[in-house]
Amino acid sequence: MAGTPALEIRNLEAWYGESHVLHGVDMVVQPGEVVTLLGRNGAGRTSTMRAIMGLTGARKGSVKIHGVETIHLPTHRIAHLGLGYCPEERGIFSSLSCEENLMLPPVLKTGSQGMSIDEIYAMFPNLAERKNSQGTRLSGGEQQMLAVARILRTGAKLLLLDEISEGLAPVIVQALARMIITLREKGYTVVMVEQNFRFAAPLADRFYVMEHGQIALQFGADELEAKMPVLNQLLGV
Ligand SMILES: Nc1ncnc2c1ncn2[C@@H]1O[C@H](COP(=O)(O)OP(=O)(O)OP(=O)(O)O)[C@@H](O)[C@H]1O
Ligand SMILES: [Mg+2]
Repeated sequence: MAGTPALEIRNLEAWYGESHVLHGVDMVVQPGEVVTLLGRNGAGRTSTMRAIMGLTGARKGSVKIHGVETIHLPTHRIAHLGLGYCPEERGIFSSLSCEENLMLPPVLKTGSQGMSIDEIYAMFPNLAERKNSQGTRLSGGEQQMLAVARILRTGAKLLLLDEISEGLAPVIVQALARMIITLREKGYTVVMVEQNFRFAAPLADRFYVMEHGQIALQFGADELEAKMPVLNQLLGV
């Protein structure tokens, strides 16, 4: 696995005001990898994603996106390096239609083309059916698909997805799993935070487990079975 990593985090620390939440996170993700960040509630997974985007308070350490150091950059500059963040709260504009939501995001200056509306509808047939529906009228699953689709429109090739399967019906969770597989086939790099171990386990190439604002364990998909006892201990899965 040579070449420049899509994401390289070294000794990342982050604070919310006085509260020190990340205590030296290390994580390296190669282009095209699907990586899952596991951990108990409050372990610091969302904070890691927010810190990558420059959305916490102070941060320290190193976060390189495709080799570019971003630790001193503001969020809008970080986003323009081709990073797409899908937060837990999704951020769908409720007064706009599904399609209007899709037309909103700016296209990044990375030179990489975002997905066209046609490509989006081919990947998410539900959204095509619902294109004229108002944001508030979409189901939770449709809103989640829309939130991811909107990021794909920007041309971002490195995706940070926070608990996309949370609270959704099994049939939607299956559709999201197929989406991750399609994104991998298309060459996207995916870092996903998941509580739903059964969803994440068959999708990820590698796993990181966080505890108390640090990486407690990392391993590849081929080691998953051997790591189950320690995962049980760390996560109670
Ligand atoms: N805005 C904030 N201000 C102060 N502390 C925060 C803030 N957001 C999170 N924290 C704290 O930071 C720590 C890590 O929280 P984080 O949201 O990163 O956890 P998580 O792993 O995503 O877990 P979960 O999503 O299950 O809550 C927790 O102790 C949490 O209370
Ligand atoms: Mg979280």
